[in-house]
Amino acid sequence: MTTAPSAPLREEVLAGAAPYTSRILSTYDTWVLGFVCPVVWGCPRDEMLRQYNRSAGARHLDLGPGTGWFLERATFPTLTPELVLADLNEGVLRRAGGRVAHLRPRLVKRDVLQPLDLGEDTRFDSAALNMLLHCLPGRMSHKLTVLDQVRPYMAPGGRIFGSTVLAKGVRHGRLAPRALENLNKDDGPLNNLDDSLEDLEAGIADRFDDYRIAVRGSIALFDITVG
Ligand SMILES: C[S@@+](CC[C@H](N)C(=O)[O-])C[C@H]1O[C@@H](n2cnc3c(N)ncnc32)[C@H](O)[C@@H]1O
Repeated sequence: MTTAPSAPLREEVLAGAAPYTSRILSTYDTWVLGFVCPVVWGCPRDEMLRQYNRSAGARHLDLGPGTGWFLERATFPTLTPELVLADLNEGVLRRAGGRVAHLRPRLVKRDVLQPLDLGEDTRFDSAALNMLLHCLPGRMSHKLTVLDQVRPYMAPGGRIFGSTVLAKGVRHGRLAPRALENLNKDDGPLNNLDDSLEDLEAGIADRFDDYRIAVRGSIALFDITVG
């Protein structure tokens, strides 16, 4: 696992990755992906997996891989994809990395809002930001600077894709408003009460010409092709 030299991390950035303890990670696939996503946010994990499989390329970067549920099930266009997993949380990197250990992923401890420092010649055909933006601190315009960190590493025609739970501009199901409120409380894993579909789209459109955003329940799924 490698660590990039970087400015001291702000408490709120660390707080975005801190909830993913080994206890939470051990229930994440069943509880968050298997129950909260379909029942509370109205978007089944298989919908996100289909998105993953449409875009995952032979050289793939996963930002905030969590337990590695998607990575383990992804169908890459080759049996030997080159994988780089980047996360601020070492426990996450160990768990997700272990799940795809047969593919010998490179594990890097990084804050995705800072320069990724992945090597000048490193290029990816795809980069996943699945369920990541809603953990990051600040306004959407700040969260989307992650795209500026990823872009220099993308090969021409590369795909940046992901999903995020929004608070505004989407049609929530019955359980979502209370869940948003609770999960945004002090030590909660979400930081998205100001996140809107409008700001997400404006931030992506400012940076890229070729993109698509689909909304399923409280979740926006975005697909960007890098020119
Ligand atoms: C909600 S989980 C998503 C996990 C996985 N992508 C999925 O969809 O199942 C968010 C992930 O982002 C990571 N994370 C949060 N803030 C981060 C930051 N500033 N830099 C790097 N990783 C971060 C967390 O540690 C965690 O692995």
